[in-house]
Amino acid sequence: MAAVGTDSTSGYDRTEGIKEFDQSKYGVKGLIDSGIESIPRIFVQPPETLATLKPCQSQTNATDIPVIDLQNINSEPHRPKIVEQIKKAANEWGFFQVINHGIPGTVLEETIQAVKSFHEQPAESKAKYYSREEMKGMLYASNNDLYRSKAATWHDYLQVWTAPEEQRAKAEDIPEIVRKESVEWDVCAKKVAEDVMELLCEGIGLESSKFKDLSLSGSRMFVGAYYPYCPQPDLTLGLASHTDPVVITVLLQNQVAGLQVKHGQDWVDVKPLPGALTINIADLMQIISNGEYISVQHRVRANSCKEPRISVVEFLNIGKWQDCDYGPLPELVSPEKPPRYRRFTKDEFFHNFYSKGLDSKSFIDKLKL
Ligand code: OGA
Ligand code: NI
Repeated sequence: MAAVGTDSTSGYDRTEGIKEFDQSKYGVKGLIDSGIESIPRIFVQPPETLATLKPCQSQTNATDIPVIDLQNINSEPHRPKIVEQIKKAANEWGFFQVINHGIPGTVLEETIQAVKSFHEQPAESKAKYYSREEMKGMLYASNNDLYRSKAATWHDYLQVWTAPEEQRAKAEDIPEIVRKESVEWDVCAKKVAEDVMELLCEGIGLESSKFKDLSLSGSRMFVGAYYPYCPQPDLTLGLASHTDPVVITVLLQNQVAGLQVKHGQDWVDVKPLPGALTINIADLMQIISNGEYISVQHRVRANSCKEPRISVVEFLNIGKWQDCDYGPLPELVSPEKPPRYRRFTKDEFFHNFYSKGLDSKSFIDKLKL
């Protein structure tokens, strides 16, 4: 019998391949810089995934994800209209872009540039941050699920915990090249997320401050991902298909496309729109809203452009991970609208996340009643 991870027909040892890549601390950026023209086998996706990369017939029917203008968010009669747009987008797509969100263009540009600069430092400068200790205040690595997934994907990432206080990276732990920018992005993205969460509350008849009162923005993480040019973009992905295991996600991308969202049977491209932010409903929001808002699968295609794709993400998690349990909000449950998901604990949530690759069955499916 073949050893774990060994393909007996060719003597290919996947476990060794992964370890070697991980221990080099070079990331995929390092592979490209070394001049490779074909991707190492650990990145080749299984045939069932590769089949989904081919355009399918119904793709032509898919429209673009909604774009919502937040300009007049605090004035009548605009606010109720914006609430309706957000509610519809969160209910039908789980994804939308927002414009006029209040973050200055210079902040967006500086944040993208800082993430790019971090990843483009010499490998030796980044290596000291390379880590698999997910709870560390700040780390850099390639593929968060490297040891759990069926195949690796073509990206590296930098991760900084920004809240709560006991978890967050101390300023001196954040590399200077992104220090100021990560702090600034966190403040700005949190504000946009809170504005949107108020609108989401109003959309389902809750007090505007309900999600804030639950301290849903009390635990946050900044992720700066780097998707370098991939010489064989039809054999791998930039990031595997997944739903986000948080409450809500705010994403800033540069002008290199790649992000795709599942809508019905289609994979729809999220077109980069200058100055826009992409927001998506994540698993915990679907659960607490009792399914009114949906957390949908998304993925990133491997980058076929010479220019790197950069994304900057702010994840909002549930702040007070006390020992209490979570589930659909009582206000949203009635005899006509029974709970769709059972309650769960913090331990169950973390156990689920760290026991599987990014693209496996979502946590929500396990809680369905
Ligand atoms: C994520 C994610 C998309 C991107 O980090 O969860 O979906 O464009 N990122 O990097
Ligand atoms: Ni995601």
